[in-house]
Amino acid sequence: MPTAAFAAFDAKSPLRAHTVERREPGPADVAIDILFCGVCHSDLHFAKSEWFPVDYPLVPGQEIVGRVRAVGSDVKRFKEGQLVGVGCLVDSCRTCPSCQENLENYCTTGMTMTYGSPDPKGGGMTMGGYSTAMVVDQDFVLSIPENLDPAGAAPLLCAGITTYSPLRHWSIGKDSKVGVVGLGGLGHMAIQIAAAMGAEVTVFTTSAGKAADAKSLGASHVVISTDADAMAAAAGTLDFIINTVAAPHNLDPLIAALRRDGTLCLVGVPASPHPSPSVMGLVFGRKSIGASLIGGIKETQEMLDFCGKHNITAHTETIRMDEINEAYERMLKGDVKYRFVIDMATMSA
Ligand SMILES: NC(=O)c1ccc[n+]([C@@H]2O[C@H](COP(=O)([O-])OP(=O)(O)OC[C@H]3O[C@@H](n4cnc5c(N)ncnc54)[C@H](OP(=O)(O)O)[C@@H]3O)[C@@H](O)[C@H]2O)c1
Ligand SMILES: [Zn+2]
Ligand SMILES: [Zn+2]
Repeated sequence: MPTAAFAAFDAKSPLRAHTVERREPGPADVAIDILFCGVCHSDLHFAKSEWFPVDYPLVPGQEIVGRVRAVGSDVKRFKEGQLVGVGCLVDSCRTCPSCQENLENYCTTGMTMTYGSPDPKGGGMTMGGYSTAMVVDQDFVLSIPENLDPAGAAPLLCAGITTYSPLRHWSIGKDSKVGVVGLGGLGHMAIQIAAAMGAEVTVFTTSAGKAADAKSLGASHVVISTDADAMAAAAGTLDFIINTVAAPHNLDPLIAALRRDGTLCLVGVPASPHPSPSVMGLVFGRKSIGASLIGGIKETQEMLDFCGKHNITAHTETIRMDEINEAYERMLKGDVKYRFVIDMATMSA
């Protein structure tokens, strides 16, 4: 089915209108009319080939919410009209140890990402959510709680699960003191989710103007990370820090902010490496640096249900599809409060 989309055609030019071919739904497929797609910083890294050279044309978009248009004959969990989501992956090998443990995001043979992966079912490369419709295997489709605003729920599919998964993995709860570095798309989800888990949250931001928002999202403390005195005052206070920053920076002051046995978890993936952290800063205090990549499908559904229960959604600025290039420019300046979401009704056919 020819389907309207927006694509990057090379690393430098603005994204523009494109038509992609979606496969005819098979027995296990769900055909989805896309309502909203969040704009993740990863879309920008990909579109500009910042991490590695990508195959163009590339249709980004991995924070997808829509309504089911049709289901294949084997599909029992979804029905026409239902509000559903698709995140960063649309398939995996299903047999490796990670897939067997519901960690398809760590599939050892490689998951099929929502965009930019070879597409074993449709041929060519997968094409993401900057598009009016898509067809996805039922095992990679999520149910969106109907009490959540569809536009605000879209960013849960990447920013939500990317922050929820490490918070769960490192057992964050009501006695935890959690740091969140970077108040952007991921950061503003991390604050809300960690606070809902009962943690006391400290936000590290380079933007003093975001302090009031950090508090209203659920943070107890805000530290301006460019203020050396404020960073020194935060030393030894936190059990766990989730770092969402999309650019290289000195990790040592953050490691210093950890208590003994604390972990600095990297989820932001800058295009070039961070300066190497001081080993001395880690050994004194038995501290760890960890990292985390999105989350598996089972945990993504758990996160959506958690957000439904706690009424957590992204704070969004809705844009037209043809405003995407300006949105990327603003994202690079940290000027997003706190997630752009594309209204797919604005896509011209
Ligand atoms: N690990 C995963 O699975 C995963 C999943 C999704 C995204 N990511 C990655 O996570 C990172 C953050 O994504 P996002 O969508 O949350 O991005 P975003 O909305 O642009 O937020 C990043 C925040 O980092 C802070 N920052 C400080 N210095 C910066 C600089 N020089 N350049 C850019 N940001 C700076 C800013 O917050 P302040 O103004 O508060 O300082 C900014 O708002 C990206 O690298 C993205 O690719 C990883
Ligand atoms: Zn993402
Ligand atoms: Zn696998």
